[in-house]
Amino acid sequence: MAMSDTSDITMEEGEIPSSDDLLRDAIAGLSAYPKTLPTKYLYDAEGSRLFEEICEQPEYYPTRTETALLHAISEDLSEAIDNDAVLVEFGSGASTKTRTLLDAAPQISIYVPIDISQIALDEAANSLNADFPNLNVLPLIADFTAPHTLPEATRNRPHVGFFPDSTIGNFAPEAAVDFLKSALITLGEDVRSILGADLAKEESVLISAYDDAQGVTAAFNLNLLARLNREVGADFDLEAFSHRAIWNAAESRIEMHLVSRKNQTVHLGGKEIAFAVGETIHTENSHKYTYDMLAELAAAAGWRIEKSWISDPYPFAVLLMGAM
Ligand code: AVI
Repeated sequence: MAMSDTSDITMEEGEIPSSDDLLRDAIAGLSAYPKTLPTKYLYDAEGSRLFEEICEQPEYYPTRTETALLHAISEDLSEAIDNDAVLVEFGSGASTKTRTLLDAAPQISIYVPIDISQIALDEAANSLNADFPNLNVLPLIADFTAPHTLPEATRNRPHVGFFPDSTIGNFAPEAAVDFLKSALITLGEDVRSILGADLAKEESVLISAYDDAQGVTAAFNLNLLARLNREVGADFDLEAFSHRAIWNAAESRIEMHLVSRKNQTVHLGGKEIAFAVGETIHTENSHKYTYDMLAELAAAAGWRIEKSWISDPYPFAVLLMGAM
């Protein structure tokens, strides 16, 4: 597999993965050249905890930037949301940024968070039920990248999709188009969506954001190997791999890799996986699109941009999109 052809290392459509899937996917990725591991496996309980910690690092600007932008434009967004609307969030996690929208748009009557983590959905639903007593929270445990039938109670109401966090950047461009198409199928016709996406910027800012001084992003990346040790009995020596973030200008993306610090052999599911010193495992892509690239992806999936806001000094876009 060529370095640029990594659409299959990102999140993909399908069922919620099991340990069998993890082992099968890990063997396939580590037997390929160059070696890869699927991005979706970064997010076990420990990975999700580390990701929350990344969001608090001073170098990781996307979370703070998007939150500030959503606050600043929340009234404009509220004006675009009809009465009795259903807000559907794709990959909702802790539903943190949703609160800004819910505060600004009390006309939202139903909230459907879609996520593969039952724990995250339960916690988010409990805390939203306490803080927004008039809101009907109807969680859907599912792979948010695939099309889904929404709960019966959402029928015949205006629907608004919400994809914050620049999650779109973790998809290869073709997969991003597939996801946006699938969201349109889930939401139905005549709908709007709000999309948050980080934009291309100075390389040094990007590298620091994905290789923070505290080593939290490194721990997040290395947790993938720790997870293989914990869940499928692999014998990775975590000291023998290091985290690397690189800017791939041709693909307009930050890549995360794990670099073997020595020649070594790792055992996994009865297989021996050989690593040469310096050999890498490619674990994540975070595309930093331009506004024009985003508009192209949206159009290819059947969405037009109605309005957009871009933050300063770190360019991050929030797009209000309507179905074509
Ligand atoms: C979840 N996603 C938008 C993050 C990003 O910025 O691509 C994941 C991440 N990886 C390393 N740091 C953060």
